[in-house]
Amino acid sequence: MASGQLSREEALACSGCRHACHVMLYADTTSKLFGRTPIRHIVLMQMRFDGLLGFPGGLVNPAEESLEAGLSRELLEELGLEIPISEEDYVETCYAPALSWTSKSKLILHFYVKKMEEEQIREVEKAAASTAVDHGLEVMGMVRVPLFRTNHDGGLSFFLSHSFIGNARSQLINSLLRLHLISPQNLAKALRKSLR
Ligand code: APR
Ligand code: MG
Ligand code: MG
Repeated sequence: MASGQLSREEALACSGCRHACHVMLYADTTSKLFGRTPIRHIVLMQMRFDGLLGFPGGLVNPAEESLEAGLSRELLEELGLEIPISEEDYVETCYAPALSWTSKSKLILHFYVKKMEEEQIREVEKAAASTAVDHGLEVMGMVRVPLFRTNHDGGLSFFLSHSFIGNARSQLINSLLRLHLISPQNLAKALRKSLR
C-alpha cells in the first residue's frame, strides 16, 4: 500500500474523520479530432468553484449513508443524473494532502472509477450543464481530459500543467496507467513536458 493510503475498513473505523468520495467516469470512443486523430477515451473531470480541476463527488457522512450512496447523492447534485455507484467501482482510500486538513479532523478521500458508454457520458455532460443544481455554483463545468497524440505539443502535457484539488492529479495519472488509457511511454513524455 502506498504511503498515505489506508484500507476502507481502517478509514471507516476512524472516529472524528471526515470523508469525501470522488469518481472518474470514463468511456471508450471512436471519434477523431480534426477527423483524423483518434481521441480513444473520454475521461471526465470538472472545473470547480475554486478554479481547481477535480473529480465529481464530495463530502459524505458514513454515519448516515454508505460511501457509495453518499457519492451517488453528490453526483446527482453535481451532474444532475442518478449514477449508481457500487463497491465494484471502488479503487482506493488515502488521507487528503496535509493542507486540506483542518485542525479538528482529518479528511479521508475515497476514490472510484466507473466505465460507461460514450452515449451515457454525453448524457452526463448535458445534464451537468442544464439540470444539475450545482451547475455554475460548486461546479463551473465538466471537462474532458485530452488523451490524443501525447507525443506532440499540447494535449495531456498542458492539461497536467493546470492546478488540481487535493490529490486529483495523481488520481488521474494513476488511473490512466492502471486502466491502460495511455501507454507508460506517452505518459512519461506528457509529464516531462508539463509545466511543473
Ligand atoms: N476531487 C475533488 N476534491 C477532492 C479531491 C478530488 N480528487 N481530492 C481531494 N479533494 C478534497 C478537497 O479538499 C475538497 O475540499 O475533498 C474535499 C471535499 O470535496 P468537494 O468535492 O469539494 O466536496 P463537496 O461536498 O462537493 O462540496 C462541499 O466543500 O470545499 C468545500 O465549502 C466547500 O461547500 C463546499 C463543500
Ligand atoms: Mg458537491
Ligand atoms: Mg464536489
